[in-house]
Formats: sequence, structure tokens, C-alpha cells
Amino acid sequence: PALERLVRTMPKAELHIHIEGSLEPELIFVLAQRNGVSLPYPSVEALRAAYAFTDLQSFLDIYYAGAGVLVTEQDFFDMAWAYLERARADGITRAEIFFDPQTHTERGVPFSTVIGGLARACDEARGALGVNAALILCFLRHLSEEAALATLEQALPYRDRFIGVGLDSSEVGHPPEKFARVFAKARDLGLRRVAHAGEEGPPAYIRSALDVLHAERIDHGVQSLKDPALVARLKAERIPLTVCPLSNVKLCVFEDLSRHNLRELLDAGLVAMINSDDPAYFGGYLNRNFVETFAALGLDAGHAYRLARNGFEASFATPEEKAADI
Ligand code: ADE
Ligand code: ZN
Repeated sequence: PALERLVRTMPKAELHIHIEGSLEPELIFVLAQRNGVSLPYPSVEALRAAYAFTDLQSFLDIYYAGAGVLVTEQDFFDMAWAYLERARADGITRAEIFFDPQTHTERGVPFSTVIGGLARACDEARGALGVNAALILCFLRHLSEEAALATLEQALPYRDRFIGVGLDSSEVGHPPEKFARVFAKARDLGLRRVAHAGEEGPPAYIRSALDVLHAERIDHGVQSLKDPALVARLKAERIPLTVCPLSNVKLCVFEDLSRHNLRELLDAGLVAMINSDDPAYFGGYLNRNFVETFAALGLDAGHAYRLARNGFEASFATPEEKAADI
């Protein structure tokens, strides 16, 4: 009805989308064929049936395997273009897209191939789709800080093709402190900083993402409500939380969508907004996250407006870009 139409059509920013998590099973099979990569699943249906996760790690194992079909620059372009077309259909005018170079460079795919295809898609999207898109390079936290430093070094010739750095992959046991030096270096380079924290991990990881990494946004952050003093700080400093409701349910962070704490985060005055995380794996792109979350939590038009506005406030677009995006 009217609320669903408002939610679907209003301009939105998406700030927490892993491009490798937008790789649909159909495209995985196309790319596997194109590149002569053999898959351990006989069909698209069989692969999709394997998308039953119990926690973050059970998802990551299959997500990294799926990314193994990406080989050429065109593969990275095709993956990003498919996402950007979905983004436009969902009313997204600004997308800040995570990519995981180490997932590819560890397989022998050159960094230039990865960023070349992704950046070309972002460049073309502005004119062809009306989507303003930028890239954020994420370090895999299950790997060493030395590996992250080497990745940042490889990225330096392409410094103008991405706007910031992030931290993703297995959270518990890999606290933000492990990446203090590489984030300090990124900061010196003028790069923006975000970090996954408080998805499965404790509020202490959110604190150290802020204090040690100087993260400007927290990806997920849903565990923050366990720590009222932290909530007060997030509110006072207007630290955005890029919340991903369908992801949290698929990875069993919440038992179902009606138990999600997004309403509480907003009621606490936090700059929370909605994102899709890994839409090919978690059952939907941004509008599906909005529509299902609104239905499950009984949110209204005021919430829709707050969430959209929080997204644009949290975005790293320049003031001039923001004015054009909204
Ligand atoms: N990589 C892709 N999706 C992720 C998530 N939800 N948490 C951590 N790392 C990820
Ligand atoms: Zn994520």
C-alpha cells in the first residue's frame, strides 16, 4: 500500500554491501562456465539450497568459495553492473560498495583486474543508471595485519579509485586492535574508515573500532545495546550504524525479523540505517530488507524518513554530491 510504495520509491543510500555478496547463483554458473572453473554443485538450485547458515563463519565459507569463479576484469565488471542495476531499481542514488581484494589476490588474480572492473562499473553507473557509486577496500580480519598492509601497498597506485577502507570477515577472535597500524596508514593517506563490529562480537569491539581504528561508521553494531554507556557515546558522536536486518536473521544473530532491535536503535537516537550486506545470499536486495523489516517491526512513514535521512547523513559523498543524490 502507500507505506510500501513510499519505502520502495524514496531515494536511499546503501553503505553496507559486499560486492562479492551480490554474486547470484546464476552468474556464478555463467562465470564458472566462461572460465572453466568446476563447481562442487550440479545446478543453480543445488547451490542455492546450500545457503542455509548457522552463523557468520558458515556463510563466509560458502561466500569465499562462490567468489572463486571471478577471474577477468569483465567478470568483476559484470558482477558490479548487475548490482548497480538492482540498486537503481530499488531507489538507491548513492552506493558505497565493499570489495575484498584478498579473496582474489590470494588466488592469483591481480589487484588491477579486481579494481579495474569494479571501478569501471561505478564510473559508468553514474551516467547510465543515475547511481553515484564509490568503492571501499576491506581487509579480511582472519588474515594477518602484514597481509592487510601488503594489500594497502598494492592499492596505492589506484588510490583515486576507492574512497576508504573497511574490516570484514570472521569477527570473534579478530579484534580491531589487530589492524591498528594499517588503519593508521590509511588515515594518513586521507582514506575514510569503517569497520564491521558488534555483529556477533562484543560491544568492546565497537569501542576499539572507534578508539583504535578511528572508524567513522560501524558496520552492523547491533550488539551495542548491551552497553548503555556505549549507546550514549554513539548517540552523542552521531556514529552511524549500517544495520543489515535480513543478514542478521540468516546468520542467526536474531531469531527472526520481529526480534530485530532496529526500532530500539532508532528509539535510542542512533544514526541507524538499513542495508543488504550480501543480498544474493541473504534473501533480498535493499527494498526487500526495507519492506520485510517494516512489516515485521510495524515501522511507519516517520521511520522511513529517518532511515533514509540517516543513510545520506552517514554517506561519505561530498556535500555537493549529497545535494544531487537526494
Ligand atoms: N563479509 C561479507 N559479509 C560479511 C558480514 N556480514 N560480516 C563479516 N564479513 C562479511
Ligand atoms: Zn557486512
